[in-house]
Amino acid sequence: MPKPLGRDQKTHWSQTYENRGDIWHAMYPDGYSGFEGLRKLSQMLKPNAAVLEVGIGTGEAALLLLKMGAHVTGVDFSPEAIELCRAKFIKEHIPEDRFELKVASIEELQLGSSRFDCVLDYYASQHLPRDSQLDFLRKAYQFLKPSGLFLIGQFSQDHIRKQGIKEIAPGTFSSETGHFFCLLGATTLSSLLRQIGFRIVGVYEAKREGFFELLAAKSR
Ligand SMILES: C[S@@+](CC[C@H](N)C(=O)[O-])C[C@H]1O[C@@H](n2cnc3c(N)ncnc32)[C@H](O)[C@@H]1O
Repeated sequence: MPKPLGRDQKTHWSQTYENRGDIWHAMYPDGYSGFEGLRKLSQMLKPNAAVLEVGIGTGEAALLLLKMGAHVTGVDFSPEAIELCRAKFIKEHIPEDRFELKVASIEELQLGSSRFDCVLDYYASQHLPRDSQLDFLRKAYQFLKPSGLFLIGQFSQDHIRKQGIKEIAPGTFSSETGHFFCLLGATTLSSLLRQIGFRIVGVYEAKREGFFELLAAKSR
């Protein structure tokens, strides 16, 4: 497996949030409601759904689901992200019994079986090395209840290439500042998910913006 360049990723993300605050809200001040995969997910979820979001960041995606009545468990390995997220949910008057936020890495999650109606991986597991991503896909299946929904957002390789981040192996990108991406792409991800037992509900590509969202469902 190619070795990431530069700083470790946790430092990269913590310093990003410490220096720049709620970067996702600054980038998308109207929220994420225009993103097709997330919109489709929100149409399919029951109102009081139990949602796990990995790499929750500052909670922009989760906020949309909380406002529909979901209960959210959110994890991120950056304590700075979790604090910004908590402050946002409080400011938005989300009742405190509707969310639980934890500082944890995706790799160490142990959350039992069949607990969630939805696992949301919104542009997060793309930052894990390939083997850890595959482990996480299997764990997501385990965490979900039968028929539970799994939404993955991932950047396209071309998009990250254009940003000048060094490609250290095919589809794997790393920078001296600690940014790291292993981008499997929609076709490979779909086939891995099918092997695990998921059914693909839809793949929503935003080619010009350089990302795709993949919605899958756990078999019964
Ligand atoms: C691109 S941001 C997306 C944030 C959020 N999901 C959103 O859509 O606004 C990726 C997030 O994943 C978190 N992250 C990256 N690798 C992680 C890991 N191994 N464990 C936990 N969180 C991780 C980062 O701290 C960051 O907040």
